[in-house]
Formats: sequence, structure tokens, C-alpha cells
Amino acid sequence: MLEVLEREYKMPTAIPDGVTVERFLSREILGVVESASIAAGRFMGTGDRNAVDAAAVAAMRENLNRIPMNGTIVIGEGERDEAPMLYIGEKVGQNNPELPEMDLAVDPIEGTNLVANGLPNSIATLAISLKGGLFQAPDTYMRKLIVGPSAKGKVDINAPVKYNLSVIAMSLERNIEDITVVILDRPRHSELINDVRQCGARIKLISDGDVMPAITTALSGSGIHAVMGIGGAPEGVLAAAAVKCLGGEIQAQIRWRSPEERARGEAMGIDPSEELVYETNDLVPGEEIVFAATGVTTGDTLTGVRYFGTGSRTHSIVMAYKSGIIRFVDTIHMSSERRGPVKFH
Ligand code: FBP
Repeated sequence: MLEVLEREYKMPTAIPDGVTVERFLSREILGVVESASIAAGRFMGTGDRNAVDAAAVAAMRENLNRIPMNGTIVIGEGERDEAPMLYIGEKVGQNNPELPEMDLAVDPIEGTNLVANGLPNSIATLAISLKGGLFQAPDTYMRKLIVGPSAKGKVDINAPVKYNLSVIAMSLERNIEDITVVILDRPRHSELINDVRQCGARIKLISDGDVMPAITTALSGSGIHAVMGIGGAPEGVLAAAAVKCLGGEIQAQIRWRSPEERARGEAMGIDPSEELVYETNDLVPGEEIVFAATGVTTGDTLTGVRYFGTGSRTHSIVMAYKSGIIRFVDTIHMSSERRGPVKFH
């Protein structure tokens, strides 16, 4: 049985003096997403979505509860009656009243099918902010337009696809033909796909997981220039946290899947209009934001978790908005037995 050595580290019971909440948490939540990835990665290719998710949720919850904060899950696995752990409203952290109140958006596995089928780009991810810093998105869809820093402030989700592709291309000093757009491969996107093809841009169709492409879009040199189309609203908030840290932009509109969802959303206080455009700062109004993701299966930006005789190795991104820190972290987690020399795989 592998044991992450970090467990031997004694977690403080308060945020150390002289360290901002954001800086402190950016260190501590790394272990949370790493542990979820290590737990879930064991189920890669099993075809068992539930086992993938259950392993990640249990690991994420256990490690969140070690952190000195009063955390509340605002985006999680669902309502209390449908999720035994990491449900919306669940309290996580050491929960001492002296500690800072934090809101969390968690997706223990973003791309559960990707892990279950051994496909690329799945991650364990979460975003955390001081209380009130994350939009409490209802469990429905969002229409999204995500671009990197160079096209920030120039695109318009209500404009035709050709306009936005031209703006993105111009901002990158290239032709539309040189732009690559990520779109979820769904029948609801047939018109969008057709429009993008008509404009001559390249398309990367994905079967699942639109948070990781949002991160990749905001990283220059990645070869991905936009994410377009309709995906999960909770994933929209996670993507917003990531692109805010990276200086990119998201614009989004709610797309209700049913009248029941719309009624539940209204009961939560959400404006039911599908016209309303949520900008990055509407989805993530907070100033102290930390976003973290660890690769589960290898993708465009993060390498998936690897296991070997003496432990495992993970690859993560951790970002803190106010501190302006973006870290790529390559960690080797030695097993407690530490048998033999470390092997790099
Ligand atoms: P989970 O793995 O968290 O279930 O979601 C994966 C995902 O592909 C998201 O990345 C995406 O936003 C959403 O599901 C799309 O939903 P649908 O599969 O209903 O089109």
C-alpha cells in the first residue's frame, strides 16, 4: 500500500503569520488534487466511472479536511441527497471558527469517462477563494467562449463565430486557418462545428472534459486558441478560475436542460435569462483565488499519474491570482517502504 510522504508533514492549525491565505492555500491544495489523481488513476481503463469518481472524492475530502480553513463546497458532486461526500454545502477543512472562511468549487475528476476509458486530458481539480469569491453555478449547462490573454476584451459571445475567429486570429497575428478551436463532440454542436469549418479554422473535437482545454487555451504556445460550445456550468466556474489566473477570458450564458433545472436555478436566486452574459469576474468575483489541477491521464498540458515500485509521480498546475503565481509541479510521491532507488518513468 502506497502512502504519500506528505502525510507525515504536520499540518498547521492556523495560517502562519506573514503568509497570505492565497499563498498558504496554493501550497496545501496541491496535495489535495495530487491525492485525488493518485487514487483515481488506479482505475484508468476499468470502464468503472463510479469507482474512478469514488476514489477521487474520498481522497480529496480526506485531504481537504486537514487544511486550516472553514471551507464550504459551493460547487461539488451535487446536492446532499445525491452525493454522500463533497456535496454542495458540505463543510470541509479543520473548521475552527478562528480560521478563514473559504468557498470551494471541486471536480474530483473532470472527465470521469476519460479515466474510465484511458483517454487523454482528465484531471483532478478544484478552485478555492475567500467566501463569496465563486459564482454558485447551478447544475446545468453553460454556453462558453474561452480565449487566451491576447484576445481578452476583444471577443463577444453574441457575435457570429466568424467575428470571434477573426479577432482571435488578428490578436495572435495569424490567419483564421492557423487557429484551433476545441469543441465537445456533441450533436448540439453540429451548427457550431459547421460554422467553424466554413471559416477555415481547425477543430479539435473532444469526447469529454472542457476544463483542461480552457487552461491550455490560455497558455501561449499550446496550439489551442479557443474553447467554444455548450458544456457543464460548474465546469464553467472552474475554467473561469483558471483563465482568470492565466489572464485569459471566458464569456458564458446559462443553458437550462429542462424546466425543472430552470426552476431549481431560480430557487437558488439565479437569473433564469439565457441572454445574460457572465464574464470572467462574474463567475469568479474573488480577488484571492487558487486553482489547482493534477493530470490523471496524460493530455496536452499535464502528464498523467504514473505508478512504480517505490511510489508514484504526478504533474500539476497550481495558480494563485493575486500573487500572480503559476506553478507547474512535478512530484514524486515515495511509498513509506521506499524500496530501492527512485525510478523515473
Ligand atoms: P464529468 O467527468 O465531471 O462528469 O464531466 C465531464 C464533462 O465532459 C465536462 O467537461 C463538460 O463540461 C460536460 O461533461 C459536458 O456534459 P455532457 O456530457 O452532458 O455534454
